[in-house]
Amino acid sequence: MKADLIISGGRVIDGTGQNSRIADVVINKGRITGVGDFADVEADRTLNAAGKCVAPGFIDAHTHDDRVLLSSPDMSCKISQGVTTVVTGNCGVSLAPLENVDPPPPLNLLGDREWYRFATTAAYANELREEPAAINSLMLVGHSTLRIATMDRLDRPATKREIQKMEKLVDAAMEQGASGFSTGLEYPPSISASEEEVIALAKRASVAGGIYTTHMRNESDDVHLSIDETVRVAEQAEISTVISHHKTCGKNNFGRTCETLPQIEEAKKFVQLNFDVYPYVASSTSLLPQYLSKSDRVLITWSDPHPECSGMELSQICEDWNISTDEAVDLLSPAGAIYFQMDEEDLQRVLKFPGSMIGSDGLPSDRFPHPRLWGTFPRVLGHYSRDLGLFSLEEAVARMTGNTSSTFGITDRGYIREGLCADIVVFDPETVIDRASFDDPIQAAAGIESVFVNGELVYEDFQWTEKRPGVLLSRAA
Ligand code: ZN
Ligand code: CU
Repeated sequence: MKADLIISGGRVIDGTGQNSRIADVVINKGRITGVGDFADVEADRTLNAAGKCVAPGFIDAHTHDDRVLLSSPDMSCKISQGVTTVVTGNCGVSLAPLENVDPPPPLNLLGDREWYRFATTAAYANELREEPAAINSLMLVGHSTLRIATMDRLDRPATKREIQKMEKLVDAAMEQGASGFSTGLEYPPSISASEEEVIALAKRASVAGGIYTTHMRNESDDVHLSIDETVRVAEQAEISTVISHHKTCGKNNFGRTCETLPQIEEAKKFVQLNFDVYPYVASSTSLLPQYLSKSDRVLITWSDPHPECSGMELSQICEDWNISTDEAVDLLSPAGAIYFQMDEEDLQRVLKFPGSMIGSDGLPSDRFPHPRLWGTFPRVLGHYSRDLGLFSLEEAVARMTGNTSSTFGITDRGYIREGLCADIVVFDPETVIDRASFDDPIQAAAGIESVFVNGELVYEDFQWTEKRPGVLLSRAA
């Protein structure tokens, strides 16, 4: 029998973290049908991968790609990194279910009023199914989105009745295609939410087999208390939980991952807990005064009233305009920013932690985005694994494939294994590297050679194909 595709003679890194081996990978009808020696099998297409790595397509554990999947379905920022699946709806922010609002920060990171037009999760899922993207997605429903849909004021905990309403919304979202629930408890729309409210909603997600991801209430001085809160939610809602973009921010918290990682390790003994991390010492979100004092440097990523300031240093803007930081924030808002506020040693410690997952947290709507949007995965492979030797290439790949699919319950992806869906990336281990930088953030990575989603070629030699084989995935409970 003739195969659809054979990727021959590559170094197969299977996603488990185990040693790679030289093998052929056979693909038929969108699935991997053989891994081994298939030299005498004929195929419609043979891709010679000698000297190259053949890995499962990368899974971006943490994204804000809800809108870009619809507005730029080629998903160039992700596909050019070898990413074949994204988890959307993180940090409490999902596009659905919400309509007819002017989205406050951080909801405006996804898009403006015209994009908040999905009354139900089903409406969003249907549009994605009708107009599929090049890559797969798995969606979470966001707590801040639900609060805005339900409450007249956000600066207080939800009442019993409001919690009941939101519980119904979580139930509906889970039934209509969501795979979990996310919070952004540090952000203005949700910082006043009670732990009880979060537990109640996480419980509904749990009952439906979902996962819980959280941008915690605090990632700086009180990070340890936030981890405690997260563990209590995981325990009481009995839900598999992911701490989003784990880090400790601000100079006085440098080094504190020596404290938080053992805390997480201890909690893992009795709750299902993991985290995602991006490989940079700068964060990025809305321009909010609360982050300024903890940052060495602040870069503006976008500004509605002053688009010309995208890419500029906040300090430079203050100097040019001869105004205070507070005044500048007022004039620039609504806006987004990059904050340099983490320590490289902490970052490396977090990346190295066993079982961790790589998530870009990229912001695809930004005019001058944080380079993590285009650079995260090749940076881990090229810079942290190959150049710094932080971990083996096999361990690096596991952090972007198998660790993530098993945490999120994506059962038929994340490994190179017979029977699984053919999401595959072929990359050059010698040359793979991020090229997106803080000065020049929109740059496709080097060394990502061919990317297949469900067996279809979506990217090769820096070219995007017209194929849109992405599907909406759901978590296997
Ligand atoms: Zn976040
Ligand atoms: Cu995020």
